[in-house]
Amino acid sequence: MNDKRVTNDDLKGGPAMESAGTLDRVNLDRELELLAADGFYDGKRALRVEGLTKRFPQPEGKRRGFWRRRPRFAALAGVTFAVEKNEIFGLIGMNGSGKSTLIRILSTLLAPDEGEVEVFGVDVTRNPARVRELINRVAVDAAFFKVLSGSENLRYASRLYGLWPQEARGRYNGLLRRIGFEPKRLKDQVKSLSRGERQKVAVVRAFMSTPALLLLDEPTTGLDPRSKREVQRLIRDMRAEAGTTVLLTTHDMEEAERLCDRIGILHEGRLITVGTPAELERRAGGPGEAATMEDVFLKFTGAEWLADENGG
Ligand SMILES: Nc1ncnc2c1ncn2[C@@H]1O[C@H](COP(=O)(O)OP(=O)(O)OP(=O)(O)O)[C@@H](O)[C@H]1O
Ligand SMILES: [Mg+2]
Repeated sequence: MNDKRVTNDDLKGGPAMESAGTLDRVNLDRELELLAADGFYDGKRALRVEGLTKRFPQPEGKRRGFWRRRPRFAALAGVTFAVEKNEIFGLIGMNGSGKSTLIRILSTLLAPDEGEVEVFGVDVTRNPARVRELINRVAVDAAFFKVLSGSENLRYASRLYGLWPQEARGRYNGLLRRIGFEPKRLKDQVKSLSRGERQKVAVVRAFMSTPALLLLDEPTTGLDPRSKREVQRLIRDMRAEAGTTVLLTTHDMEEAERLCDRIGILHEGRLITVGTPAELERRAGGPGEAATMEDVFLKFTGAEWLADENGG
């Protein structure tokens, strides 16, 4: 098998060298071509999730006697959906509905109990290492070496991604500027940054590697309105410039509507509906009545609607 990995020589003098912060389409396309040649990627589908189930033990409170096996509940129960390449797909749902669990499984941090998950045709259980080359994740509570500076953290990450230090610096400085983070502040220890500033560094760290599939778990939670817009714009630019596919979770309904091509609603571990923002709003509204995304959320996660669906 040919060596699919992009070497440092490929990156040197690449598009990112010429313009700081430009996202790198060339390597991503090459990576996907190789996946297609190896018989994984079908040229269309970025993500396929089928019958995905994940169970966790019930919290301690419900345990009856230490000798009994703790009962388990399904944090994800038979979730099925697909995301096309270049799509921005949003997941919304109440606290505890399973969004982060799903993201963790897609990023190979957690193993599914049942079902299948493929990223560009690569199975997360059978081939997690290859999946990891295709994805990157921004978590709500991103992990850093907190006593190291922002730039030390970014340099560490760039080495893992196999970027040249100089090209990495150009890229992350450019990306930081695009979301209103003054690169000078990278000299500070991460623990001295505000929550929002830290979140921006986390976003840039993930974007720097130009992943084929970007998993964003509440990427803009905790950001001020301007920063929120800037990160949202960067997500859209990333899709346009690099051809990245995005799966994101959010509690911000305006963001879901503004950013997502399609939205899936998770409720108690089940994907209860999927549609474009306009479709969902149409379905949530009464005759001649326009619904907002918030109405959509309230309707589809409300007890009333669920009782109707289950036959009363
Ligand atoms: N490692 C774990 N062990 C046990 N239970 C877990 C674990 N991780 C998640 N859960 C449970 O699974 C359910 C889904 O959690 P998850 O974090 O996926 O929800 P979420 O949709 O991301 O919620 P939020 O909107 O609050 O971020 C919750 O009931 C949670 O308590
Ligand atoms: Mg979560």
